[in-house]
Amino acid sequence: MRLPIARLPFLLVGMALVLPGPAMAATLPDSLEQRIKACTACHAQQEKHDAFFPRIAGKPAGYLYNQLLNFREGRRQYPLMNYMVEHLPDAYLREIADYFAGQHPAPPPAQPSGAGTAALARGKQLVLTGDSGKKIPACIACHGQQLAGVAPAIPGLLGLPRDYINAQLGAWKNGIRRAHAPDCMAQVAQRLSDADVGAVSAWLGTQVASADARPGASIALPLPLHCGGVPGSGAQVAP
Ligand code: HEC
Ligand code: HEC
Repeated sequence: MRLPIARLPFLLVGMALVLPGPAMAATLPDSLEQRIKACTACHAQQEKHDAFFPRIAGKPAGYLYNQLLNFREGRRQYPLMNYMVEHLPDAYLREIADYFAGQHPAPPPAQPSGAGTAALARGKQLVLTGDSGKKIPACIACHGQQLAGVAPAIPGLLGLPRDYINAQLGAWKNGIRRAHAPDCMAQVAQRLSDADVGAVSAWLGTQVASADARPGASIALPLPLHCGGVPGSGAQVAP
């Protein structure tokens, strides 16, 4: 995972100010503005397509909260993220998640792709209709018709850097990224070939969300697979 080294000194100062270490727990900064200062260095309001920095603004609050728990509890690995949330209590993470869920900056532009027409067509097919022969459900069956996500816990898939999507699907295939069990995304990713992962990431990158796209209020249940982090999908939450 590449990290822009030039940003590090600034970040470390920001984190020292904002993040409570064990000894600082009694002096948690009490304004939300303070809490999120250390976040926007990487998750800026107006994100560029920085290869591996995902947009978090506007994602459903339950999804963001689940990810902060996943980093804190080691189901996702990115050392700086793991470190930043290591000592933060649930209520604090919930507040941060709610804050970012309420932000709706303009969607970033499309990312042109050199993947070729056959790969882009395969990506589009997987997203919109899936591949029943390989038991791959359409991505829109869970991520919503407009790919804008569904409240409270399914994220949208547009406006993310292509390389980030590619890396996340790869991490699920390899068991490096995990979600609350049963982990439906791990099942989806394992059914995708490496070429499918590239195709789907490339096609998603070429799409632009509409400026007023918001996560849907609900989706038809049951989902094609059980997802532990999604209320009503019929699954328990992993410890
Ligand atoms: C040094 C840069 C950096 C800082 C600072 C940072 N993040 Fe992150 N964050 C990342 C990266 C990189 C990822 C993706 C990691 C991966 O590959 O799984 C990420 C992932 C996330 C995700 C999951 C996004 C998704 O779509 O699944 C959330 C939520 C998040 N960060 C919240 C925060 C919050 C809240 C803060 C402040 C307390 C913060 N981040 C500070 C770099 C950073
Ligand atoms: C059965 C429902 C379901 C299907 C089908 C599904 N997803 Fe997901 N997806 C989810 C859920 C739930 C999450 C949130 C997982 C978590 O909490 O970490 C997710 C998360 C993701 C993420 C992480 C986004 C981020 O910001 O880090 C990506 C990328 C993704 N899905 C891509 C896909 C693609 C591509 C397809 C189609 C090939 C697909 N999904 C099909 C349920 C589904």
